Amino acid sequence: MCGIVGVLGTHQVAPLLVESLKRLEYRGYDSAGIATISDGRLDRRRAVGKLVNLSDLLVHEPLAGRAGIGHTRWATHGAATVANAHPHRAGTVAVVHNGIIENFRELREELSKDGYSFESETDTETVALLMRRALASGKAPQEATAEVLGRLHGAFALCFLFEGEEDLLICARKGSPLAIGHGDGEMFVGSDAIALAPMTDRITYLEEGDWAVITRAGAQIFDAQNRRANRAISRIQVDATRIEKAGYKHFMAKEIAEQPVVLADALRHYTREGGLNLPEDIDFSAVDRVTLVACGTAHYACHVAKYLFESLAGLPCDIDVASEFRYREPPLSDRSWALFISQSGETADTLAALRYSRDKVAKVVSVVNVPTSSIARESDVALPIMAGIEVGVASTKAFTCQLAVLTLLALKAGQDRGCLSREQVAAHLENFRCLPGLMNHALSLADDIAALSEQLAEAQDILFLGRGPMYPLALEGALKLKEISYIHAEGYASGELKHGPIALIDNRVPVIVLAPRDHLFEKTVSNMQEVMARHGKVLLLSDAAGIQEAGAGCWKTLTLPQVPDLFAPILYAVPAQLLAYHTAIAKGTDVDQPRNLAKSVTVE
Ligand code: AGP
Repeated sequence: MCGIVGVLGTHQVAPLLVESLKRLEYRGYDSAGIATISDGRLDRRRAVGKLVNLSDLLVHEPLAGRAGIGHTRWATHGAATVANAHPHRAGTVAVVHNGIIENFRELREELSKDGYSFESETDTETVALLMRRALASGKAPQEATAEVLGRLHGAFALCFLFEGEEDLLICARKGSPLAIGHGDGEMFVGSDAIALAPMTDRITYLEEGDWAVITRAGAQIFDAQNRRANRAISRIQVDATRIEKAGYKHFMAKEIAEQPVVLADALRHYTREGGLNLPEDIDFSAVDRVTLVACGTAHYACHVAKYLFESLAGLPCDIDVASEFRYREPPLSDRSWALFISQSGETADTLAALRYSRDKVAKVVSVVNVPTSSIARESDVALPIMAGIEVGVASTKAFTCQLAVLTLLALKAGQDRGCLSREQVAAHLENFRCLPGLMNHALSLADDIAALSEQLAEAQDILFLGRGPMYPLALEGALKLKEISYIHAEGYASGELKHGPIALIDNRVPVIVLAPRDHLFEKTVSNMQEVMARHGKVLLLSDAAGIQEAGAGCWKTLTLPQVPDLFAPILYAVPAQLLAYHTAIAKGTDVDQPRNLAKSVTVE
């Protein structure tokens, strides 16, 4: 989603702003802009499309100044045009904004009645105009900010720059994260620490409702009630913010390849010799139900986990997508736990679902990749997945690490509830430790997958089938493929095929069957036969025994190593990701920043 940077520097800031925006590119955007103050004068440049367009514009129309703000916009209100791009300016103020101002229509009406006119279709411009009006009434920037913030509903991160004020930025956070960076005689603002990492490793994370008046001497922070607030400065590990492709063509390729290593890291973190090593307050003995909530890929991780909690621990488990969960107002028991799964830890719907559950359940647990994120901070227990920064919009290593942590939680639940002995858990962990090796084997299928993906790229529609925990994998495989190759793909539970989707089958529709040789194999194979009987092109992913038994007559087969049932979803995620990746390569799409998508979805 949108990215914000702000700099009160000692040198020309335009190059620094663009450089920081580049570090936010991974979030997804469709236009960008910067504003600076030079000799007291506020000026801005904006361009549609990739940052290179903004850089080109700046070559012809440079911007001087040691103070500035910048933004990458992911369009919500109004198309990706220059007029809608940020910074928005009204009189002597410029503002950049992440999130949505929910009452912008009513504010627009009020401002129009007051004689103000609008140049864009955005909700953000109302904020700039409110500020202009407050300043015009004689208020100083700080006073005006307190007034304006009081008028805004919705979720936002904002950063203001004022004409004539070369040593002032004012920023605010409500619902969208924002960090302040402390330099030597310089100060910075960023949507996340990653944007600021080359400038400083000293970061203050604003809390919900906070706003800050920033000068080169430091930041004065106020809380939602406009009282002075003390927020700690923490040192971030710059290594953890390194975003480089390390020789790979795409971040996604690098992140797929990293999985054996990060999975082993996660395992090391949560296990010890012969047993689990989860935080002490992860004790499922008195828990009567778990509710798992997330969006997109993280939701499919929950879906796999449902099978595990139920089968390993006999623990009733509900799952839902966060955008539905929060509005259906589900009853939650105070003996239950709510688990929120999120790579970014900032997904607006997941965060709102967490807040809905907060006082209704015994414990709020989150499984996140960003330990400083809002979701992590608002949970009773936050379990980092140890995947390292994930830049590709299509989630890969975060998914398998989410599955790893959820599997360990399900094992713990089984142990706490007396369904599994310590010895049984230890035996599962022994198997788990072999998984990184098996993943390396799966990664070695990349060339075969690349070859057959050339043909998949020709398809208009592709179906994925799976049973049991491989059903959510089918959903994830289809999501991955459509996200980055733009081919229409759907995942189905194999048994559901003849209840409708079988009508789609003909010799042009590849059907990808995810079927390790487990206790459900025969049933999946029957469904696969039904596809083949209708001339469907089956690509079977199984182990050697499965391929030998059912590979005949398939269009293609891919042989994966044999894997204990419990870990099959993690292993089979790898070829599903590679299929999506190589099909996208064959189609020539933008793998790391697919159209219309954002890495972190901070609006509803
Ligand atoms: C995955 O490939 C997606 N881009 C998307 O579905 C993602 O998983 C979803 O938006 C949830 O994000 P989160 O894990 O950061 O909460």
